[in-house]
Amino acid sequence: MLEHMVENLDIFICPACRGDLEIKDEHIACLKCHNTYRIEDGIPLLFLTPKDNSIEKDVTNMVKSFYERTPFPDYDDLENVEHLIEKARRSVFMHLLNEQIPFNIRVLEVGCGTGQLTNFLSTASRVVFGTDTCLNSLKLAQEFKEKNNLKRAGFYQMNLFSPIFKDESFPLVICNGVLHHTSDPFVGFQSIARLVKRGGYIIIGLYNKYGRIMTDIRRVIFKVLGERFMFLDPRLRRDDISDARKHTWFLDQYKNPYESKHTIGEVLRWFDSSSFTFINSVPKSKVFHSFSEDEALFSQNPRGNWFDHFLVQTKLMFSGSREGGLFLMIGMKK
Ligand SMILES: C[S@@+](CC[C@H](N)C(=O)[O-])C[C@H]1O[C@@H](n2cnc3c(N)ncnc32)[C@H](O)[C@@H]1O
Repeated sequence: MLEHMVENLDIFICPACRGDLEIKDEHIACLKCHNTYRIEDGIPLLFLTPKDNSIEKDVTNMVKSFYERTPFPDYDDLENVEHLIEKARRSVFMHLLNEQIPFNIRVLEVGCGTGQLTNFLSTASRVVFGTDTCLNSLKLAQEFKEKNNLKRAGFYQMNLFSPIFKDESFPLVICNGVLHHTSDPFVGFQSIARLVKRGGYIIIGLYNKYGRIMTDIRRVIFKVLGERFMFLDPRLRRDDISDARKHTWFLDQYKNPYESKHTIGEVLRWFDSSSFTFINSVPKSKVFHSFSEDEALFSQNPRGNWFDHFLVQTKLMFSGSREGGLFLMIGMKK
């Protein structure tokens, strides 16, 4: 059942002491500190609870218990790989990723939720690692993987602040919609940036300070006037989405216990201070440059200046509210 981990054991480390790991019959053991980790339904439980009395512990536990109750995104109408591929085809970004990530490489998704992207990317010849704190989400991911025999996908319970992989193990690390649910997104970024190989890429998706304004306004309206005003959210008005899926979206967007908001300029500073070169972003960080349907994701683009960022993000306030005000940044490790 643990073939994925067995085949890639060379890159795993103990989240507590960074020692090498050994897979026993019923559990995983650290050869250095002798900590043991359980395996549940084929998922190695390598999650390390943050140290006592830290803000990180409070936020991680609060967000973890929220997602244990509300795994995101749901598999409501995705029964098999064909459905997943069809869903990906409708998303320009997922489609471009699958076309442009080379074969035969290791890809890490941090905060994979229910693992739809990890499972999807593993349908082509790549080894993909989906990690998350939330066990109920990982179980849904694992169930889909097993039902569809996706052997190149593996799911692991991990706290991104205590990684379970050696530094520089991956040519590509993806972390979409996760860091803004942590106590310190910059420290979280630094923690996963270490896992990227030199010359490799990181893709970060975060709530945008401007892009999120409409969601914040709607949250207040729902709180004051009640949920009968749910039609104000464009996604909750759509006829082609099931009620279950709308409910999951509503909880994720409006009832999440913790979120922060970020800007293009801020992530550029993260890149600069961690030896990453800016490569690309969605939306583009320079005005009059637009993201095309055959965009070369990993080709270098201009960073834009503060005025470009201001205009691009102001536009995101209106156009981005359908996607919850997310923006994506791609960096390459020097
Ligand atoms: C909004 S969901 C995003 C899921 C997926 N990336 C997507 O785009 O659909 C946020 C995910 O981040 C995970 N998460 C939050 N804090 C985390 C942490 N410290 N380490 C790992 N995952 C974390 C949550 O459990 C949740 O599954």
